[in-house]
Amino acid sequence: MELEKLDGMSVLETIAKHRSIRKYEPRSLPKNHVEALMRAALRAPTDAAMHLWTAIRTTPEQRRVISEWIGQPHVAEAGEFFVFLADLHRVEKLLEYRGERRGRNDFSLLVFAAIDAALAAENMALAAESLGYGICFIGAVQNAADRIIDLLKLPPHTYPLFGLTIGIPAENPPTRPRLPLDLMIHEGSYRTYSEEDMERAYREMAPYSRRRDWLRMLKRYAAEGGYFEAREGYMRELFRKMSFNI
Ligand SMILES: Cc1cc2nc3c(=O)[nH]c(=O)nc-3n(C[C@H](O)[C@H](O)[C@H](O)COP(=O)(O)O)c2cc1C
Repeated sequence: MELEKLDGMSVLETIAKHRSIRKYEPRSLPKNHVEALMRAALRAPTDAAMHLWTAIRTTPEQRRVISEWIGQPHVAEAGEFFVFLADLHRVEKLLEYRGERRGRNDFSLLVFAAIDAALAAENMALAAESLGYGICFIGAVQNAADRIIDLLKLPPHTYPLFGLTIGIPAENPPTRPRLPLDLMIHEGSYRTYSEEDMERAYREMAPYSRRRDWLRMLKRYAAEGGYFEAREGYMRELFRKMSFNI
């Protein structure tokens, strides 16, 4: 199905209405919609046309298993779950096929692979939302990345960065808050943050959680002893296991 022939919401309306969906009707998407969403991902910009990403469209059984591993039921409930990879393997193969060798560029290509993958996934997400589906990015694939690598038979120089659930929403949450725009986009040069900026940030983000405590969330993920500290060594080790020289 060609994208432009589908009747979706406008891009601006789709962006404005975005909220992550974590409850889905246990129904699959029509084939032509799935095809269109995959094509939307493919249309995303990609640095130097290197296409440094791959997505794996998982089967219902794979979704069930991954959902259990990472403790996120919405992964099993959603009609579709794609795992987005950083992929230096295919470009390496393409070079080798024509007698060339990929350079010593694992780190820099990996950074750009993450950018490529995020752009492709967001294109897919926006296309899905414009058709009325709900989506949720799933970084928690990191909590079982080693098993997911085996399950999806990923070759060296690939890495599962995040997942994307897509399905028919079974909840209708409000849009969630964001930091004030002037803290995110600075005019001319990087700004210094005042005490008032900090207060505004916590005030604006308070409605994010029922307890009105955004700090609790930040601490859980980004502070000492948080999830990302726990991931640090594990992810580095897995990247090495996938033959990345970083
Ligand atoms: C890279 C990335 C990883 C995420 N991982 C998860 C996840 O594992 N599980 C989940 O339920 N939501 C996940 N989310 C969704 C975020 O929690 C959500 O986007 C954020 O709280 C803002 O809410 P909103 O999308 O409804 O505006 C992730 C989002 C991103 C961009």
